[in-house]
Amino acid sequence: MESTRGKIYITRRLPKEVTSRLQEVFDCKWWDHEDVPVPRELLLQEIKTADGLLSMVTDRIDSELLDAAPRLRAVSNMAVGYDNIQVEEAKKRNVIVCNTPDVLTETTADLTVALLLATSRRLEESAIFLKNDEWKSWSPFLLAGLDVHHKTLGIIGLGRIGQAVARRAFGFGMKVLYYNRHRRMAEEQSLGVEYRDLESLLRESDFVCVLTPLTADTYHLISERELSQMKPTAVLINTARGPVVDEVALYTALKNNQIWAAGLDVFDREPVRASHPLVHLPNVLALPHIGSATVDTRMAMANLAVDNLILALTGKEPKYRVC
Ligand code: DGY
Repeated sequence: MESTRGKIYITRRLPKEVTSRLQEVFDCKWWDHEDVPVPRELLLQEIKTADGLLSMVTDRIDSELLDAAPRLRAVSNMAVGYDNIQVEEAKKRNVIVCNTPDVLTETTADLTVALLLATSRRLEESAIFLKNDEWKSWSPFLLAGLDVHHKTLGIIGLGRIGQAVARRAFGFGMKVLYYNRHRRMAEEQSLGVEYRDLESLLRESDFVCVLTPLTADTYHLISERELSQMKPTAVLINTARGPVVDEVALYTALKNNQIWAAGLDVFDREPVRASHPLVHLPNVLALPHIGSATVDTRMAMANLAVDNLILALTGKEPKYRVC
């Protein structure tokens, strides 16, 4: 006899203690791989019978997929960002969309600061230098980098993660500027951050952190013109979404030493290969989108995605609802 329980499709293998919470309530199927996304064709097939979908940033939830999903009532994305989902299309079809903010804020802020320190103090280059047995002697300017303390940090996007980065920066005695679509008066008071328009922020900052979501308005927000407004000693950090920065323009700026370095956790098209031009520049530290990747935080994100899905499918208000 066919089960009357709701059906869930999970697009990646998750720890048993996470999936078992869903299995108590629903019939669940999942793509049983951790390192590769579910093939599109299979997802289009599985979605036909699903009432709920637990998705990752690597899954494209668009009108084609939504059209193939007559029973679908909720998509729970295991991420704070949801640029992989066509939210307007979901809304039109009364499909609830949920995400997982808050639980990853501090972890992503830590990684942002780690990139800032690693690029300015040339940690990757220094470690490779030593591993290559190139170290002959302590020398006055060997692998000399840039100071972080008491410098000026410019934050683009003063959301939760932006604010968490600002709090850390004050620990380094930094001055913190921000640019945001809407001015945030309350945070200016409570945190002590100063608003600047984008051009002034780029001209004044020693470090620029991109922490804004990817939207039609922020696509290539940092391009040739913006990079030319930065100081030649400035460092750009992107832990938000790759397409917010024009990679071709960034490559040119870094290659020509128009800016000093970049720390990148995200790329235009992920995954990038080792042959990607940016990965090869000595003044780039490139990471494979690990901003929120600690065991505790990824477990918290997975559990929150499960909570959201259960709540949405049992007629209750999810903890975090995008639409
Ligand atoms: C997010 O949550 O949006 C991250 O980029 C994925 O960890």
